[in-house]
Amino acid sequence: MTATLTPERPAAPEDDHGSGGLWESEATTSRVRVEGLDLTHKVILYLEEITVSFDGFKALNNLSLTIDAGELRCIIGPNGAGKTTMMDVITGKTRPDSGTAFFGQTLDLTRMTEPQIADAGIGRKFQKPTVFENHTVFENFELAMKADKRVRHSLFAELSGEELDHIASVLIQVRLDRYANRQAGLLSHGQKQWLEIGMLLMQKPQLLLLDEPVAGMTDEETERTAELFVSLAGKHSLVVVEHDMKFVEALGGKVTVLCDGSVLAEGSLASVQADPRVIEVYLGR
Ligand SMILES: Nc1ncnc2c1ncn2[C@@H]1O[C@H](COP(=O)(O)OP(=O)(O)O)[C@@H](O)[C@H]1O
Ligand SMILES: [Mg+2]
Repeated sequence: MTATLTPERPAAPEDDHGSGGLWESEATTSRVRVEGLDLTHKVILYLEEITVSFDGFKALNNLSLTIDAGELRCIIGPNGAGKTTMMDVITGKTRPDSGTAFFGQTLDLTRMTEPQIADAGIGRKFQKPTVFENHTVFENFELAMKADKRVRHSLFAELSGEELDHIASVLIQVRLDRYANRQAGLLSHGQKQWLEIGMLLMQKPQLLLLDEPVAGMTDEETERTAELFVSLAGKHSLVVVEHDMKFVEALGGKVTVLCDGSVLAEGSLASVQADPRVIEVYLGR
């Protein structure tokens, strides 16, 4: 496994073509791809034997996990299992005591700063939506796009046709096209969550980390969010932490169960739900 972390050759832009049309719709515009995130082995994220201790308590304990490019993965597990800490390690907020974390074949996340990791193409959505309430939906997207440090931009520069197209397509994707001119503060809770997801999409992340994205949403909004995530998979890789099992079921991807800082079980939702060790940790606490 460690050997696969060493690139055999530098990433050539053509390298991604064999991966089932993974980046097709963004092939000409994705900057990270041009900069050459190396997905030679079709794996976008490698976590190997990550340990994080807080005053001797191991929030992550030899955690190993890989996410394939284009995959939609759900992470479940009891409170305190280490789900949020795992996201903190991936985004550079928390440094592991030991272990390795790679983005693609070549980017060592444990040696990068939080802004470098974000610029490399990892977007994170926290539980609470953080949108600019006094700005319209459109302006929020514009601000998110201009905050992208990979593009040299004056805040007052006109948007290019390509940028306007990108905003228009994301507005439709997150079902806010009818609300482009509405103040963000006037949106429903669910719509604010979608707005924030859309703002992340403005920066064309390769990997999206979403911590409890449907908390507080209505059933209808939860269903729409599942459809959105399913539609994003393939073009992006998604890691979704969620408690709502109906939502996890609707996503339909592989499920990883974390417990006490490491992986307890992995597989389809049905298979992990039938696993006696999983039943034990959910019912035994
Ligand atoms: N900064 C911190 N300092 C001390 N303990 C922490 C810190 N962050 C998380 N923990 C502990 O690590 C464990 C895992 O937390 P967390 O990753 O938030 O779990 P989850 O997101 O799965 O509920 C918990 O027991 C929590 O109390
Ligand atoms: Mg958490």
